[in-house]
Amino acid sequence: MIVDKPVTRMLIVDDEPNMREILSDVFSDEGVSVDTAADGAAAVSLLGKHSYDVAVVDLKLPDMTGIDVIREIRRRNLSTVILMITAYSTVDTAIEAMKLGAYDYITKPFKVEKLKMLIDNAIQGVSDKAQRFGEPDGEGFDGVVGRSQQMRQIFEMISDLAPTNATVLIYGESGTGKELLASYIHKRSLRANRPFIKVNCAAIPETLLESELFGHEKGAFTNAVARRPGRFELANGGSIFLDEIGEMSLAMQSKLLRVVQEREFERVGGTQTIKVDVRIIAATNQDLVSAIREGRFREDLYYRLSVVPITLPPLRNRKEDIEELATRFLRKYSQETGKPVTGFSVEAIRILKEHDWPGNIRELENCIERAVILSKGQEIQPKDLYLNCQSVNDGTLSSRRSRAGAGLDLAEREAAAEWDQEVCSLEELEERLIARALDQADGDCDQAAELLEISRELLLEKMRKHGLER
Ligand SMILES: Nc1ncnc2c1ncn2[C@@H]1O[C@H](COP(=O)(O)OP(=O)(O)OP(=O)(O)O)[C@@H](O)[C@H]1O
Ligand SMILES: [Mg+2]
Repeated sequence: MIVDKPVTRMLIVDDEPNMREILSDVFSDEGVSVDTAADGAAAVSLLGKHSYDVAVVDLKLPDMTGIDVIREIRRRNLSTVILMITAYSTVDTAIEAMKLGAYDYITKPFKVEKLKMLIDNAIQGVSDKAQRFGEPDGEGFDGVVGRSQQMRQIFEMISDLAPTNATVLIYGESGTGKELLASYIHKRSLRANRPFIKVNCAAIPETLLESELFGHEKGAFTNAVARRPGRFELANGGSIFLDEIGEMSLAMQSKLLRVVQEREFERVGGTQTIKVDVRIIAATNQDLVSAIREGRFREDLYYRLSVVPITLPPLRNRKEDIEELATRFLRKYSQETGKPVTGFSVEAIRILKEHDWPGNIRELENCIERAVILSKGQEIQPKDLYLNCQSVNDGTLSSRRSRAGAGLDLAEREAAAEWDQEVCSLEELEERLIARALDQADGDCDQAAELLEISRELLLEKMRKHGLER
């Protein structure tokens, strides 16, 4: 509770005397020092005298809008946690306020308990963050590279939005860094020390998704031998990342809508309503607007999810980022493999910058990993990149298959000539590709085989060969 933070100063701005009294009583009982204001002018005058840890602001005030008060609070103190109270009809304004940096909103009528839960979590987050303050970030933006104009704009927007509870929808082609960005938002939020739970909505069969998300009671279905919490419960206090949201069935979408709106649900086979405080970050590589038009995605859910929409540009539209990313990956894989590869030849960099990267950053990363493993010297050469043959680009085992094909260009002919000497490192490459596919598929062999574009049988055989069975 709030008591583990010795002095908390709170401002309550509401024109209803009842509301001021109730909230003031409840929080004073918890040892919080509470000031109240009945209108905007009184609030502004108090803001001139004290600095507040928390402000609870009604959006509808007699003399000015709650939004104006929020702007004023933000201008004076960046670390005040702001919660809004709003009537249901003004939820859109509440969302506006979250864009200004308010932490969350609560709709009238509400239970004081719920407001307390939100405030407790916010305050806990602030003090966690204060403890972390001053620790170096490590690599720049937590390892997220981006010097291009587009990426800088995204970082700027995130620094405002990360500390709020606003729901975020990330759109981007495959491999543009949606998952990395989601965890970056979580790490920079007040929830950073709480769980970050990922759910790949496309990887979980429809029939299981509901119990994955919401959990189930003992006996809810044949294999439900014990009660099991769902991912929303596990994420309580933290964030949940709903990946590939565009793949979700309409039936699941309506169940999700309720959680997004109310933050409550029942476990499968259960009757008890469970309330959670979870920040939702969703991602998709689908054009959800067309999906809505085609009747595959609920419009209301879309609007709830895209409070803050972020579009990650494809790598071909931010070529300024290529060199830095390539260097980052080179360092990573030379460390991992212990090979002393230190840089790229001028020509190799030129080729990297010219390539279109249909698989985006993931493709670039795979390309550099392969190049480090195959390179013979300290410097990556164009031939190590294998970028002239389209089918090798996806970083799957098809690189081996395509090698045997006709129409090899110079780089590939050279490579083919070196084939015999390279068997060793290709074995290593194969092992790494399989290990990574298994990792990406969370150990699911069917899915890993699909990622590698090989049969399940071949995958199992290769796993045995490399000693990768679990
Ligand atoms: N800006 C970046 N800086 C450094 N590494 C990045 C950046 N963006 C992505 N990556 C790396 O590229 C790889 C792909 O990123 P990620 O998995 O986040 O993409 P995605 O958009 O979720 O892909 P998919 O649609 O295939 O799921 C990861 O290894 C990630 O660490
Ligand atoms: Mg992803």
